[in-house]
Amino acid sequence: MNKQYVHGYDPRENIRLQDQASTLVELLHSDTSYPPESQILEAGCGVGSQTVALAHNSPLAQITSVDISESSIAEAKKRIEAAGCTNVDFQSGDIFNLAFAPQSFDHIFVCFVLEHLAQPIAALKCLNNFLKVGGTITIIEGDHGSTYFYPDSEAAHKTIQCQVELQKRAGGNANIGRELYPLLHAVGFGTIQVSPRMVYVDSSKPQLVEGFIKNTFTAMIEGVRESSIEAGLIDEETFDNGIQGLYRTTETDGVFCYTFFKAVAMKK
Ligand SMILES: C[S@@+](CC[C@H](N)C(=O)[O-])C[C@H]1O[C@@H](n2cnc3c(N)ncnc32)[C@H](O)[C@@H]1O
Repeated sequence: MNKQYVHGYDPRENIRLQDQASTLVELLHSDTSYPPESQILEAGCGVGSQTVALAHNSPLAQITSVDISESSIAEAKKRIEAAGCTNVDFQSGDIFNLAFAPQSFDHIFVCFVLEHLAQPIAALKCLNNFLKVGGTITIIEGDHGSTYFYPDSEAAHKTIQCQVELQKRAGGNANIGRELYPLLHAVGFGTIQVSPRMVYVDSSKPQLVEGFIKNTFTAMIEGVRESSIEAGLIDEETFDNGIQGLYRTTETDGVFCYTFFKAVAMKK
């Protein structure tokens, strides 16, 4: 797994993305719906975890979802069929080399993709070409630097930092959420609005304890155990203590906070 995990391709990562999507659908999607007959491009749809929410919230819009991974597209198709949605077409393709005509989409949606790209500005420029003037781009990304919890644990911060470092070495940026405004500004988008979306979890919210702390965040960090140790970023004991520290936050007195960033900007 290792690098594959960091890129979001392996089966366990796909299950994690699904857990994340179903846990966070209200927080991340409640204010995204597109008008009837509008043409929407979802770039980097993966296994379709967000596609289902997009299609449900905009049932009369026509969504084209693309991903560089053919196997993810195949999975996404199954998922959208199972959800009974009929307004999504899937295509495999690279964001940097898509075959759409300029200005062929009214709106673009991108979730948890820029964090994996070495050249997020170049990717945004490519996507901007496909957007009509006055159309919007919506981007959602996490930011691991926004993680804090009770009880605090130095080892847990070290394990999180392993994931950040591995993602950096793979060309990505796990702290990209805070950069959405500057990235969109650099590409020349107008009316950029960024809203931080905090997931606050304590034991009065057992679904979030399971769905977010355990199955989303801690699962992601646990997934980089071997690669972090192999890369010499951390020793086994510290890593395992860090994971214990994250699980400790799921107990009755524990608290966990993480902030996603959602940006909506318009093509001038
Ligand atoms: C972490 S997944 C996110 C998937 C989905 N958006 C979600 O939120 O569940 C990142 C996705 O970006 C895709 N991806 C990475 N680089 C890409 C590129 N250059 N062109 C298209 N898709 C790309 C990967 O294949 C992967 O499916």
